[in-house]
Amino acid sequence: MKVIICKDAKEVGACAAAIFAEVMNSRPTTVLGLATGTSPLPLYAKLVEANQAGEIDFSTTITFNLDEYVGLDPDHEQSYRHFMNQNLFDQVNINKKNTHVPNGIADDPDLACMEYEAMMGDVGGVDLQLLGIGSNGHIGFSEPGTSLASRTHVADLTESTIKDNSRLFDNADDVPRQAISMGIGTVLDAEKVVLIANGENKADAIAAALEGPVTCMCPASALQMHPDVTWVIAEDATGGLRHFGK
Ligand code: F6R
Repeated sequence: MKVIICKDAKEVGACAAAIFAEVMNSRPTTVLGLATGTSPLPLYAKLVEANQAGEIDFSTTITFNLDEYVGLDPDHEQSYRHFMNQNLFDQVNINKKNTHVPNGIADDPDLACMEYEAMMGDVGGVDLQLLGIGSNGHIGFSEPGTSLASRTHVADLTESTIKDNSRLFDNADDVPRQAISMGIGTVLDAEKVVLIANGENKADAIAAALEGPVTCMCPASALQMHPDVTWVIAEDATGGLRHFGK
């Protein structure tokens, strides 16, 4: 387990971008697992910059996003498909056909989850998985209490996640109550994982995930079981660490 402590969110993005570049430049086709939210924005800006400078190529890259809100059309401004198009896919030389985000408006969401898992299997699994972390320790939308062996599933969002994410919606009531999310078991199957975090509101979750027991009550703690995880954390999110922060 590698822990890198950075000055701030921008440095977290630069550090994670260097890991992405190394993986993407070391193989002809990379399968990336991607996240949305505020944390990846500096990373995606760096990847766009590197792509435009010819330092990394997305032409053969395949991507699978962690999650999508149930009920939001891909064109909805708060959908994760829209977020990915806007912040990464529309700005790099990726073939959109190779980008996958769970279908939040599937007629049969459970079937859509199984198909998503099968698609990842068909391309040989995820090479590099990016994760943020919820203030409650969630990864993807695998909330506290989700089985450590879970696969892609329809997840009920907790009140704390709905509150955290309401900042991006006009009304808290507009935040969807469910999402399709990769499971914890799905994430653990990735060859390499990078978790990024910044902000004081993440300090308790980071401490529980890195230094607490492995428990479904802190889904990110399951990463302690993964053989190749890099935690890239800004100083302001390290306040609860006793061992790794020193
Ligand atoms: C988003 C996702 C979530 C976020 C987490 C942190 O695709 O999977 O687990 O990574 O909620 O969100 P931010 O970065 O907005 O604090």
